[in-house]
Amino acid sequence: MKNGQCWLDDKGNLIQAHGGMITQFNGKWYWFGENKDADNVRVGEKQLARVDVVGVSCYTSDDLHTWHYEGLALSADKNADPSSPLHPGRVMERPKVIYSQKTGKYVMWFHADSADYTFAHAGCAVADKPEGPYEFVGAFLPPERRDVRDMTLYTDPQDGRAYLIHSGDWNKTLYFSELSEERTSFTGVVYAHLPNQEREAPAMYYHDGLYYCVTSGCTGWAANSALYSTTRRLSSGMKLIDDPCEGPDARNTFHGQSTYIFEADGQPYLMIDHWKPQDLRHSGYSILPIEFDGDRMTVRWADEF
Ligand code: DGJ
Repeated sequence: MKNGQCWLDDKGNLIQAHGGMITQFNGKWYWFGENKDADNVRVGEKQLARVDVVGVSCYTSDDLHTWHYEGLALSADKNADPSSPLHPGRVMERPKVIYSQKTGKYVMWFHADSADYTFAHAGCAVADKPEGPYEFVGAFLPPERRDVRDMTLYTDPQDGRAYLIHSGDWNKTLYFSELSEERTSFTGVVYAHLPNQEREAPAMYYHDGLYYCVTSGCTGWAANSALYSTTRRLSSGMKLIDDPCEGPDARNTFHGQSTYIFEADGQPYLMIDHWKPQDLRHSGYSILPIEFDGDRMTVRWADEF
């Protein structure tokens, strides 16, 4: 798989799983992401580039290289009311899936928004199997009614608590909103990090006593510098440290943006989207290994995954 390019599934079709996550359930790899297989349009005063929502794709693999399309885990609904988070005219971004030990269900969260990004809620859907189909539960605001923009899910390996990590306050702050054990609601515990830093596209990893959070700046579909921040505890103390990227075009995250960190055989990898604003369905992907040297995190460019 050549990094920075579009990738094909086992049938030769474009992999449509943008802003996504790769994770393992029951010994199998799953890749969830935005299906952007629709025509580009421009909307609103700002002429924002978008495609209508198709849904959330699910792919499976045994080796992380051959991917099989399982279909749409969550589908847009053309017949839904235009105000419904499932309507194609809305925004359904950065879907992530987590398993609830308590209920035995798979829970998907996604950035549910209006086309002008003023709704800014967290959409939730539930399934009995990782590949779905997921049943839409609703769109919610976490405690203190913070807005939800770019987001990820993170389970603390230290204590098993899970968080919806989301840019809020119009991207001014990064919030960690704790999820209940059912993973479908919030406990009320919220930690605020990186005030006034305007970071988005969060991706988390724990290594050797430190939590690392890779983020991007906020420049729409245009690439900018990644930064990683660290903290010894999730409740407070997160500090921006440095740009982890090294190699050609490292200063704009290799023309990409972070979306998730997964681990395979003990090796962490950063997933990157290479957005093509004029042609979003042909946005490419990279998966790059993450290295640690003491407290320093490095993401070095590699031509292939
Ligand atoms: C940046 C975000 O990271 C993406 O997920 C998407 O919302 C674009 N902005 C839209 O401009």
